[in-house]
Amino acid sequence: PRVYLNGEFTPLSQAKISVLDRGFIFGDGIYEVVPVYGRKPFRMAQHLARLERSLAAIRIPNPHTVQQWQDLVGKLIETSDAQDQIVYLQLTRGVAKRDHAFPAQVVPTVFGMSSPFARPSAQARRDGVKTVSMPDERWLHCEIKSTSLLGNVLARQFAADRDVPEVVMFRDGYLSEGSSSNVWVVKEGRLLAPVKDNLILEGIRYGFIEDMAAARGIALEMRPISRAEVDAADELMLSSATKEILPVVSLDGKPVGDGRPGPVYARLREGYDEAIA
Ligand code: PDD
Repeated sequence: PRVYLNGEFTPLSQAKISVLDRGFIFGDGIYEVVPVYGRKPFRMAQHLARLERSLAAIRIPNPHTVQQWQDLVGKLIETSDAQDQIVYLQLTRGVAKRDHAFPAQVVPTVFGMSSPFARPSAQARRDGVKTVSMPDERWLHCEIKSTSLLGNVLARQFAADRDVPEVVMFRDGYLSEGSSSNVWVVKEGRLLAPVKDNLILEGIRYGFIEDMAAARGIALEMRPISRAEVDAADELMLSSATKEILPVVSLDGKPVGDGRPGPVYARLREGYDEAIA
């Protein structure tokens, strides 16, 4: 497959960066994961807006206009025959002599690739997934979509070691998110979500689910959610570009609600499928 690196498309095997790239040395970079359905990017404007926010947060100048980003994503889609794809974009601060402080003269490294999207299995969508809980031990700027993902990597491995696809993390007794997804709670027909602050990444699906809840008359409360509320939930869900929306049917081996995907999930799933059709 061909990938994009600093202005050129090259075979993946030929795409090379310097070992002094600050992405490699410090994890000094940001990224986006954009799902593509039927060869069209889904919620592209929102992904590009978040890219812009992430760059601003770590003070990397945005090297491209929105139009240029859109063109690049279009070209990345053309590198694959797949109808459904996952476009990955990454920027780092660039290549410089190793020093923690920002280098004076530096050009951002821009990388992009597209891969076929293996959507969540029909079984996962229908029957749900299992999760385990763990303390959220990440830093205090989880709102930045940074490539510094060690905390997320360790969290995802915590799940993998327990043969489940995702963790549900709690910070000081309150729900934050998964290793690479947002977490949703349903209680008595109401949808609950953690506040969009510095303790979670504001998923593009977070915004989409907000929109769907408003359009479908599902009450949504964004507020701190305690561990006790999660344990007493009728439904739990995960959302991300790659998971879309998935029902969680168990947490730490205990069933969520009646242990089966619930009605609010079914309504959101229907909305998601309509939107991507
Ligand atoms: N992860 N929270 C975290 C920590 C994430 O890494 C992600 C996405 C989300 C959901 O965001 P969105 O709806 O925009 O995908 C929430 C991507 C998919 C990844 O790292 O691969």
